[in-house]
This record gives sequence, C-alpha cells and structure tokens, in this order.
Amino acid sequence: MDATILDEYARHAEETAREAGAILRDRFGQPHEIRFKGAIDLVTDADRAAEDLIARRLREACPDHELLCEEGSLGAALPSTYRWVVDPLDGTTNFAHGLPTFAVSIALEASGIPVIGVVYDPMRDELFTARRGQGAFLNGVPIRVSNTDALISSILVTGFSYDFARRAHQAEIWRDFLTRVQAIRQTGSAALNLCYIAAGRLDGYWERGIQPWDVAAGALMVVEAGGTVSDLAGGVYRSDDREILASNGSLHDQLLAVIGRHPFGDAPPATIQLGA
Ligand code: IPD
Ligand code: CA
Ligand code: CA
Repeated sequence: MDATILDEYARHAEETAREAGAILRDRFGQPHEIRFKGAIDLVTDADRAAEDLIARRLREACPDHELLCEEGSLGAALPSTYRWVVDPLDGTTNFAHGLPTFAVSIALEASGIPVIGVVYDPMRDELFTARRGQGAFLNGVPIRVSNTDALISSILVTGFSYDFARRAHQAEIWRDFLTRVQAIRQTGSAALNLCYIAAGRLDGYWERGIQPWDVAAGALMVVEAGGTVSDLAGGVYRSDDREILASNGSLHDQLLAVIGRHPFGDAPPATIQLGA
C-alpha cells in the first residue's frame, strides 16, 4: 500500500478514535440504558453512540471499505481489499460499573494483513498507535516490550470471556500460573492488555473466547513493539481466531509450556494471518 495513503488512513483512524473516546468520557458515570446480548454480555447506549460515530467517519472517508464492528454497523456491500475492525468500547462491563478502564479500538486490515492499529483510552488520554513495519507509539513516543525473561519476575494479564465453559478453563490456567509468576492482573479490556504489553507495562496475556474487534489493533501494537503474538498452541495467530497469546517474546515459550498443560476441546477457524 502507498505510504501516503496509509498515513492518511492512520491519521483519520486516530482522529476518529479520539472523537469516539470523547463520547465515552462525556457519558462515563452517567445513568445508562443497558441491553443484554447474553446472560452477562451487555451493551450500553455509549457503545452504540461511539460506534455510530466511528462507522459514519469511516464510511465518509473510505466508502469502498468493509467494516467489521462489534455492534453490527456495516460498510461497503462489495468485497474490498480493506477491512476496518472496530470495537467502539472495549471494557463495557467496567464502563457500565463506573470503573474507568476502557478503550476505543480501531484496526485496518489490507488483504487480511493488519496495517494500522489505534487504541485510545479516553480517561488517561493515552493514544496507542501502530503502523505495519513502522513501530508502535504511545502519544507519539516509541514504545517497546519489556525484557523480562523469567516467569517468576513476570506480570501477566488475562480476561474472562462471557462464556462460562471458557471461564472455567481460564481459571484452571490462572491457578497454574499463580505459583510461577510475580502477579496476574485482569484489566477488563483486551485492547488495553495488548497495548500494555507493547508498552512494557505487562509481560504476557492469554485469553480464549475473544473476538477480532477485541484484539485486531492491539495485536499489531505488540508485534510492532517487538513482541510475539500466537494462538494458544504457539501457531500463527489469525485475527478471526477466538484465542490469543501475546508476550514480550522472551517469555513466549515458557507461557506456552504452562498453557499447553491445559488443552481445551474446540478448534478455532483458520482465516487471516497476522504476520504473513
Ligand atoms: C471484552 C473485554 C474483556 C475480555 C472479553 C471481551 P467488551 O470486550 O475485552 O477484557 O475479557 O473477552 O469480550 O465486551 O468489553 O467489548
Ligand atoms: Ca471488546
Ligand atoms: Ca465492546
């Protein structure tokens, strides 16, 4: 892709993420209209307002591009080389409970390869950006993964999807890691977990049950910051997989060894490669 066009798309995605983040910040702490997509999977009026804004902005600037948005907004009807992958509010449960840890996540894929990633945390005014082959940045300053190379010195993070069977399996792995690492966290935002690995704040993240919009932008951030992203068996990560392992790279094999002791029975669909 022409570098100037990539720059233009990236700038547009960054402005759009900031605008959508402002909507979330304005609505944070206000009463919300909450609808349940599943027993514990909710969506608020703020998710919809942010997504409406993002979808409108992307359609205006890129009318021929496809959109994959968590709340269902659509883009071009015809197949396109480009697909925007959008989570208007990653960390909805936090947001709905008044916990100020959530983000807007926007990624662009070209022929299935992630080329732009933007994650904006409006409460901390932290804008994480990555362009394929050009590094990862926090508010314009380059970021790198940590150099932690021993599990016992590491701080890991995970998330618990809305599927109870997957949660039980997550808990098993969590328990196994507990006696091998310095600490384990759960932020409630997959996008921020990945950005924090890219910035060296956390060392490893695993989750089963994620969706492309949770991780599309953050996965590029980790790779561009020098880290490693794979599936939970160490195979090539694909954005439509329902699972992810991301790390600073040095710890990847050690994380895989622990996770590998806890096989789970489902096979994710194979479609898009991150590093192809
Ligand atoms: C969720 C968050 C959470 C992760 C879940 C996601 P949402 O996204 O990223 O950290 O554990 O798997 O579904 O629902 O807040 O957009
Ligand atoms: Ca999400
Ligand atoms: Ca969401």
